[in-house]
Amino acid sequence: MRADNSRIKIRRMSSEDIPTVMVIDRSLSGPQRAISWEVEADVEAEVYHPALSFIAELDGVAVGFLLGDIRGVKYGKDMKGWIDMVGVYPNYQNLGVGRKLVQTFCEVCERDRVDVQVLLREDDERLKKFFSTLDFSRGNIVTFVKEFRTE
Ligand SMILES: CC(C)(COP(=O)(O)OP(=O)(O)OC[C@H]1O[C@@H](n2cnc3c(N)ncnc32)[C@H](O)[C@@H]1OP(=O)(O)O)[C@@H](O)C(=O)NCCC(=O)NCCS
Repeated sequence: MRADNSRIKIRRMSSEDIPTVMVIDRSLSGPQRAISWEVEADVEAEVYHPALSFIAELDGVAVGFLLGDIRGVKYGKDMKGWIDMVGVYPNYQNLGVGRKLVQTFCEVCERDRVDVQVLLREDDERLKKFFSTLDFSRGNIVTFVKEFRTE
């Protein structure tokens, strides 16, 4: 069930939010975790400092985050808004928090006239459905892989 939208506040993330990001990240383990995002979110945040990142608060309590950035040096020369990772506490999912995080990120990108992209695994049906619901459609980046396995 969706929460009253006015109860969900989205604000920019600061380095002081990293412990919160870590706690939310650790709450999303096992089957709860998206198969596209295996890297720990706090490590991603501390190593790459994605500059366009947000925290979602529900009634003043931090319950979700989005790590993202506008960049162009990766995967082609066009500037794009890249969503690196999104996470919402299991108990606060399906209330509209993830939707509002992504919408806020998209609003900034629209103002800056850059498209938004997210890399997902082909077999990640849950995130494919989540982003489809938010009007994302399949892009044209494909990975080709040469694997070297040691048995
Ligand atoms: C994906 C995720 C961010 C969605 O957040 P949420 O707050 O539950 O999403 P919302 O309530 O805003 O839902 C938005 C829409 O997406 C759909 N949706 C949400 N979660 C979904 C899921 N798991 N599968 C399919 N569709 C989903 C909802 O039906 C909703 O559609 P509607 O608005 O038309 O009803 C959340 O499920 C999550 O954190 N998953 C784990 C992500 C993860 O592992 N991250 C890495 C570690 S931090």
